[in-house]
Amino acid sequence: MTITIKALAADERGSCPEELSFGAVFSDHMFTQEYTKGTGWQNAEIAPFHNIVLNPAAPVLHYGQEIFEGLKAYRRADGGVNLFRPEENFKRFNRSAERMSMPAVDEDFHLDVLKQWVSIDQNWVPSVSESSFYIRPAMIATGAKLGLSAADSYLHFIIGGPVGPYFSEGFNPVSVYVSDTCRRAVVGGIGEAKTGGNYAASLHLSEEVAKQGYTQVLWLDAIEGRYVEEVGAMNIFFVYEGKTLVTPELSGSILAGITRDSVLKLAPTLGFDVREERLDINEVLADIESGKITEVFGCGTAAVISPVGKLCLKGKEYIVNNFESGPVSTSLYDELTGIQYGTREDKFGWVVSL
Ligand code: PLP
Ligand code: COI
Repeated sequence: MTITIKALAADERGSCPEELSFGAVFSDHMFTQEYTKGTGWQNAEIAPFHNIVLNPAAPVLHYGQEIFEGLKAYRRADGGVNLFRPEENFKRFNRSAERMSMPAVDEDFHLDVLKQWVSIDQNWVPSVSESSFYIRPAMIATGAKLGLSAADSYLHFIIGGPVGPYFSEGFNPVSVYVSDTCRRAVVGGIGEAKTGGNYAASLHLSEEVAKQGYTQVLWLDAIEGRYVEEVGAMNIFFVYEGKTLVTPELSGSILAGITRDSVLKLAPTLGFDVREERLDINEVLADIESGKITEVFGCGTAAVISPVGKLCLKGKEYIVNNFESGPVSTSLYDELTGIQYGTREDKFGWVVSL
């Protein structure tokens, strides 16, 4: 498919701000394409960033038929730009699309579009330390239909902008509240899909506990309320005796994180063992108390590797590693970001250079 490019002239373009937060500033251009049942995808274009006009009866507004992704572009020291495992995001985008009864997008085309768009907006990829260009592909159900069935038309778009660290803590420990009341997702539901409903479901408790200083909520399985699933916008790892990394196995209600997969592959190259298994929260907390668990960290594209310094369940607090970033999280952070920014060897061939 051809892509129409309507690029701004050099003197019409904005520039990257010096102070960066997360997800508040967007680059000059965006990508869009439209799908209609019977015709397929058409009208692919890269055009100046713009608002979207929707019919108030668009299914996305009523039934939440939407999916999204999150990946980053990183500025290399030589001035070039790296993408990190983008094809994994596009595979997951299509898995989410299938679960939400939405049309698939051609993965090669998606990557091609992404490269062209990032190249056009490459001035927006920041070079300040710990900054990157966050990329948000999304698909929404459009048209006008209040009857409950899959939509007949969709809009696929990609926007992005320069970002600093996701947490104000940066690479410093965050406090996590273990939910014993709300559940995020259930096996057979949509927890494995990257779709808005999962995030909307997480907001109520997240907002409540934020008032008490907790940055993220750790979700337990919805059937027994006992097994660890994931934490906010991240997967979670527990480090036993400074040597073995254990993360919940993919249960059907956990998002299969690309950072999680990268940590599972990188850790053995750094001398650590890895295991994926069901983790009972009561055992985990007892192991934190006894000191058997020496570190806990979350991982995800936006948050990278984020040490967890404290967990709270039913009013009782469990401090991890004296609320300090530990050596395992630090070495994984250094290795992962080293590969992403091009300062360490990319042994797995994950980086796509522009
Ligand atoms: N879990 C949830 C719920 C997320 O939103 C994310 C972020 O994308 C992750 C895990 C981590 O996934 P990834 O490493 O692919 O960014
Ligand atoms: C990401 O890490 O890309 C995410 O999706 C986090 C987002 C919910 C802010």
